[in-house]
Amino acid sequence: MDTIKIFSPATVANVSCGFDVLGFCLDSVGDDMIIRKTKSKGITISKIEGYKLPLNPEKNVAGVAGLAILKAAQVTFGFDIEICKRIKPGSGIGSSSASASGTVFAINELLGNPFNKKQLTAFAMKGEAVASGNEHADNIAPGLFGGFTLVKSLNPLEILELPTPKELYATIVHPQIEVKTSEARALLPKTIPLKKGIAQWANVGSLVHGLHTLDYNLISRSLEDNIVEPHRKQLIPYFDEAKSLAIQSGALGVGISGSGPSIFALSQGEIKAKQVAKAFQNVYKNTTIDFKIYVSKINSQGIKTIS
Ligand code: HSE
Repeated sequence: MDTIKIFSPATVANVSCGFDVLGFCLDSVGDDMIIRKTKSKGITISKIEGYKLPLNPEKNVAGVAGLAILKAAQVTFGFDIEICKRIKPGSGIGSSSASASGTVFAINELLGNPFNKKQLTAFAMKGEAVASGNEHADNIAPGLFGGFTLVKSLNPLEILELPTPKELYATIVHPQIEVKTSEARALLPKTIPLKKGIAQWANVGSLVHGLHTLDYNLISRSLEDNIVEPHRKQLIPYFDEAKSLAIQSGALGVGISGSGPSIFALSQGEIKAKQVAKAFQNVYKNTTIDFKIYVSKINSQGIKTIS
């Protein structure tokens, strides 16, 4: 096999209480990528459709991730990358991560799968660092492993795969403004009061327990973030209105997706998730801000081979 076409899905990082550690994978939105083996060594990027991004592999997240896996594989050939981008950069649903993870997944397939998912995560993190300024895996892990994941530690890298309750659906509203991850990170405090830390790690623990026991009520009560959200929500117009209307419409919980501006909600069942989509629509339709809404099952497979 010399060519592979894959679907690299969008992901939601943080999941309210789990800043930089929790994430889950979406199903209905993502990028298509075609990776071809080339005779010449190294990585080329021949085409990016959808958004204007650098074709120079050393300046592109997919290129840097590709170079990282290539270095480890030590092969005498190279790869060309084509990306049909549907996830807008700076959207908060893992645009750069989808490009980086998709590249290493596809190259690994073309090489005959010499690397495991944890090793692929480490290669993709090199690419992600180009976009956000530092290495983190909370979008990459759910893309590569599927479902919900928890990054227990970066050094040494340890990823935990969490269960995905079948009835859990995500609703995403993406107000079409750009929030740079580096800027959203710069807003955060360097230290936090112990009391806030206690509440936050209690919520992470109870959310993980809720996922294991399919306790939707506990999941709902755990989707709280008193550390990051209060600082970042100012970057997202109408965040408070959208959150409160979505909760009134039956969402289990609502928060900022990654570093924003997208907002995610989790609901029990597709019907509720669609009601939440209507609530988001009702908030943004009366504003001057363009927006996109997605309703998605939690994608337990992650990146998929199309052909
Ligand atoms: N955990 C990261 C953040 C995800 O919130 O800054 C953004 O890519």
